[in-house]
Amino acid sequence: MTYILITGWTWFIGSHAVVQFAQAGYTPIIIDNFSNSSPRVLEWLETILGTQPIFVQWDIRDKALLEQIFSDYSIAGVIHFAALKAVGESCQKVDLYFDNNINGSINLYNTMIKYNVKKLVFSSSCTVYGAAPAPVDETYPTGSTTNPYGKSKWLGEELLKDYAQFGGLEVIALRYFNPLGAHTSGLIGEYITWVPANIFPYILKVLKGELKEVGIFGNDYPTADGTGVRDYIDIMDLIDGHIAAWKYLENNSQQGLFDAINLGTGKGVSVLELIQITEKISGMKVPYNVLPRREGDIASIYANANKAKALLGWEAKNDLAFSISNALHFYGITKDNTHNNVLRHNTSFIHKDA
Ligand code: WQD
Repeated sequence: MTYILITGWTWFIGSHAVVQFAQAGYTPIIIDNFSNSSPRVLEWLETILGTQPIFVQWDIRDKALLEQIFSDYSIAGVIHFAALKAVGESCQKVDLYFDNNINGSINLYNTMIKYNVKKLVFSSSCTVYGAAPAPVDETYPTGSTTNPYGKSKWLGEELLKDYAQFGGLEVIALRYFNPLGAHTSGLIGEYITWVPANIFPYILKVLKGELKEVGIFGNDYPTADGTGVRDYIDIMDLIDGHIAAWKYLENNSQQGLFDAINLGTGKGVSVLELIQITEKISGMKVPYNVLPRREGDIASIYANANKAKALLGWEAKNDLAFSISNALHFYGITKDNTHNNVLRHNTSFIHKDA
């Protein structure tokens, strides 16, 4: 058995990673505090996998419990997702974001060194680039971030460079662009908190009739239609990128390895374009109104994804229509909105449990 520790698994990306790593033959050990989701995710994973993964409810700052996990299992490596991740919220809660995302991660890295676990795939973000000229590649300087979330990811990478050079960790930092979509099984997707911070889950809740309209944060950016441009990458492609990164670490044991790699499609899509494509796929109108710009936002960013292709043999294969269709299916959103509203499609459930 190859045990892989997956932190922050209940979050959108982590839960999909548990499924794909398990189906790739690994044995995930999953730890989370459910700050971004609900224990019901475990039921859904059991439905897909046919068995309940090894799970420990854990706060990333609980060092003692983390040591217990490392002493109980012979862990081959770590996929580290656990982090708070809303750009706007991070501007309101800088203390929480740095305590959770930085101090929590330091706990993990110190424990890895203590138990001689070296291989780490780190969930980083394109926000480390700040306002970069798109398409942005990995040689572009990082650190000119515009919000505490992005700063916590940049600091995470900077710490890991030293943990690799002086602590012996072997690290691939994956810089995500904007993930969206849902698992092709239709059984898991993005678990939306009551009022989503991100655009696409917000659009979904408007389509479900749970929110009135989308508020577009600014239409006076220097972009084709004035709204923010991002690189929306399908969740299944994103996870395939993690598996490719893990296999790279398995096959390239190298003292002091640290490398950062973009996971994006290389295409920029504006907020208005995302709304229009969603309307076309769903056959439903997405009402919106234009609001002032959001603090910490940049105008446009999308990836130069050549390095992932060259180093990992990975590239995004699924288009936006694929992602949107899977997400609509997961939330049971149909034209006449007769959602087959079984429990998992009731996106507000997390609010009640939270
Ligand atoms: C996208 C666009 C907003 C909400 C995200 C994640 C972060 C990181 C990068 C992984 C922007 C606009 C948004 C709304 C809007 N991913 N918007 N109305 O800020 O690019 O960051 O991707 O690490 O984790 O947060 O994503 O979806 O919040 O914003 O107009 O209600 O949509 O201005 O142009 P962002 P987002």
